[in-house]
Formats: sequence, structure tokens, C-alpha cells
Amino acid sequence: MQNDHLNSQVDIDALPFSQACENNKQPILDILQNELQGFTHVLEIGSGTGQHSVYFAPRLPEIQWQTSDVTSNHRHIAAWYHAYPAPNLYLPLAFDLAYDSVPINSHLESSCSNNPYDAIFTANTLHIISWALVERLFALVGESLPVGGKLLIYGPFNDHGNYTSAGNQRFDMSLRQRDPKSGIRHKEDVVILANIHHLTLSETYAMPANNQLLVFQKD
Ligand SMILES: C[S@@+](CC[C@H](N)C(=O)[O-])C[C@H]1O[C@@H](n2cnc3c(N)ncnc32)[C@H](O)[C@@H]1O
Repeated sequence: MQNDHLNSQVDIDALPFSQACENNKQPILDILQNELQGFTHVLEIGSGTGQHSVYFAPRLPEIQWQTSDVTSNHRHIAAWYHAYPAPNLYLPLAFDLAYDSVPINSHLESSCSNNPYDAIFTANTLHIISWALVERLFALVGESLPVGGKLLIYGPFNDHGNYTSAGNQRFDMSLRQRDPKSGIRHKEDVVILANIHHLTLSETYAMPANNQLLVFQKD
């Protein structure tokens, strides 16, 4: 693992930037610090710009934080990693939900056998990927997590068939115009799908900007 890149060598202003990540990183961290007590290995699916990972890893020092995404995003995640390296943060693994199985970093292979991660985190992905890939995500996570393991999902969800805000309704329409297979998911559908894969909803946190953080635990 290359941790020898100092942030003084990186042009911070040139990093890919998500304002939403800046806004939601502390509220998400507050939940993770509570929900991930005693957990040791987290896989992040769809790490995006990588902003979340560099904020979370140093503030969750007991956790090995493994980023992942489709390879086209790896340079963004790596740029943030090199700007803000942390000893418990790992460069992204290739993970395309359409094709791949849960990726394992070689640093984990020696210490873990079947279940390398005891928790999996993903933010703002379920409304981007198709429902078929949401189904695949839950199948892979259900197979991969050990009993007691957690899946934590941040993003917008509909409740009881309704948008939770006018802003989410507009967002959903813009998503579907761009890609008809994308769109804000109904929380009830997600919970049913999770149950099929032995994942039970244990907590629902209301988050700023009409988002939610859902926590599922493996039975
Ligand atoms: C809206 S971005 C969210 C990024 C970041 N988690 C955040 O909260 O800002 C959606 C993410 O889903 C990822 N993604 C899209 N299709 C995917 C796929 N087939 N497999 C894995 N990740 C995918 C994208 O690469 C991107 O990182």
C-alpha cells in the first residue's frame, strides 16, 4: 500500500469534488461511529469521488476501510487517497455490481477466510444503478457478510409509496429522464429484498436533505 504521498504534493483544489459529500459526511460519520463499534473491516461500494472514505477512515481508526468502485472512478478515489492517506484506508478495488463478486484485497486474505468484511457501506448508489443491480448487490452482500454483519445504506428513499419531499420528486424525475432504469427506490421494496437475503432492517435514521440511512443486520 502506497502511503508515501504527502498531501502537500497534491493539488487539493484540483481534486474531484462533491458538495453533497461535504454536506453529508459529518451526519453520516455520527451514525457510523455508533453503528460500527466493535466492527473491523468495511467495504465501501461505489466510493465515487473518494471524499467520504478520506473523512471516515481516520475518524474510525479501529476499522480497515476498503474503497471500491467501477474502474472509471478509481483515479478520483486515488487522488483523494493520495491527498489524505490514512493507515487504515485502502486504494479502490474494482467492483462492478454487474459482473464482479465481492472484491478482496490481499491485505485481508491472510487474516480472513470466508467473510473478509464484517460491514458494508454504500452511499447514493441504489437510485443510480438499475433494480436488477440492486438485487445483485443484496445477493452478494447477503452471501458475503457473516452473521451479525451490517449493511449500511445512505441515500434518498420513498416511504409508503410516496416521495418524502418535492425535491426528491424532482430528483427522481431527472434521474429517470437520464436513465429509465434508475430512480429513487421504495424503502419497503428494499426491505423485502433484504429479507430474502437474510438481512433485517435494524435502524432507520432520518438524515439531512430528506435522505435516510438504513442499517441492515445479517440474521
Ligand atoms: C451518485 S454516485 C455516489 C458516490 C458516493 N458514494 C457519494 O455518496 O458521493 C454513484 C456511485 O455508484 C457507482 N456505480 C454505478 N454503477 C455501478 C456498478 N455497476 N457497480 C458498482 N458501482 C457503481 C458510481 O461509480 C458512483 O461511484
